Amino acid sequence: MKRRPPSLVIGRGNGGLLLDPPLLSAPMAGVTDPPYRGLLHELGCDFSTTEMVSARGICEGNPTSTRLLFPIPKGHTAVQLFGSDPDMMRNASDRLTGEGFSAIDINAGCPKRKVHSQGSGGALLKDHDRLLCLVEAVLEGTDLPVGVKLRSGWDAFEPVSFKRLVSRLSDAGVSYITIHGRTVMQGFRGAASASHVRIASSESDVPIIASGDITGPEGVNDYLTNGASGFMIGRALMGDPSLFRRLRASFNGEGFHERYERAVLLDNLNYSREHLFRVVAHYGESRGVIKFRSHLAWYIKGVDNRASLSMRVASMKNESEALEIISKALEMLEVK
Ligand SMILES: Cc1cc2nc3c(=O)[nH]c(=O)nc-3n(C[C@H](O)[C@H](O)[C@H](O)COP(=O)(O)O)c2cc1C
Repeated sequence: MKRRPPSLVIGRGNGGLLLDPPLLSAPMAGVTDPPYRGLLHELGCDFSTTEMVSARGICEGNPTSTRLLFPIPKGHTAVQLFGSDPDMMRNASDRLTGEGFSAIDINAGCPKRKVHSQGSGGALLKDHDRLLCLVEAVLEGTDLPVGVKLRSGWDAFEPVSFKRLVSRLSDAGVSYITIHGRTVMQGFRGAASASHVRIASSESDVPIIASGDITGPEGVNDYLTNGASGFMIGRALMGDPSLFRRLRASFNGEGFHERYERAVLLDNLNYSREHLFRVVAHYGESRGVIKFRSHLAWYIKGVDNRASLSMRVASMKNESEALEIISKALEMLEVK
C-alpha cells in the first residue's frame, strides 16, 4: 500500500478548505472547463482550478473571459488569472471575490506565446519584481487565499534565483505555491523534476503543490517524499475522470487500477455519457459536441481497432452521433 498523504488546509481559520487527501485537478485551458470539472468533483476531486482567465478580459467584460468563470462546485474552485498589469489584477480579483471561488491563483508559467509575449504567464519568471507586484495587487484586491503557479524557470533552472523567488512569494503572503518542475522553454519535454519541488518546499513556509507527470499513487508518493503538500493532476485526467476515485481507493488500502485496464475503460466510457450531457447543457448541442470531440477521442484510447471510431469522432456533430459512438466503443470492449 502507498503512504496516504496527510490532509492539507488551503486558507486560514474556519474559512480554510480541507483537502483529504490533497488531490487537485490542474488548470488546463480547453480541457478542465466547467462541465468536466463538475464531473471530476463528483468522482473524488476536492479542489480544481479554472482554465486561465485574462484579468484584462474580466475587467473589460469580454465574454471569452467571463464564460470561463464558473466556480463548479462553489467553495471548491480556484479561479486562475493571467495578466501583467497590477491594476487589472487588483480589479479583477476584487470583482471575483464573493462569486463563489475559494481562492485566486496567479499564472506564472504559461508557455503560450500569445500569453508570455504580453509579459504574462511564463514571462513573469524573467521579471520576479513584476510577479511580486502582481501578487501584492491581488492580495489587495481580495481576502481569498491567493496561490501562484510557477514553472521552475524561463529557459534554465537557476537554483539561487528560484529559491529566492519562492521565499519572496512565501513572505509576501500567498497561501500556496504550485510548482511544475519544467522550464517555460522546455514545454512538456523531458520529465518534470521532483527535485525542484523539494528545493521549493525547503524555502517555503506555505504549502507546495506539485504538478507534473502524476498518473498514479507512485507519482504522488514520489512528490510526497520530496516535501510536497498537495498533488495536482493534469494530462492524466484526459479521458480518465475516475482517476481521483481510484487514487482515493488506493490510499485507503485497495489496489490501484491502471487507466487502460478493461474495467477502468468501461467505467470511463460510461462516465463519458454523463460528460456529454453536461457539455451539451453548458454550451448547447452544436458547440458542445464539437468541444466534446477531443474528450471522446481520449475516452476511446485503449479500445482496440478504434480507427473507424476515431474518424467518426473527428466529424461528429450532434449528441445522438456521440452516444452511438460511445455505445459502439462499449460494445467493442465488452465483446473482447
Ligand atoms: C492542454 C493544457 C492546458 C493547460 N492550461 C493551463 C492553464 O490554463 N493554466 C496553468 O497554470 N497551467 C496549464 N497547463 C499546465 C498544467 O496545469 C500542468 O501544470 C501541466 O500539464 C503538468 O502537469 P501534468 O503532467 O499532470 O499534465 C495546461 C496543460 C495542458 C496540457
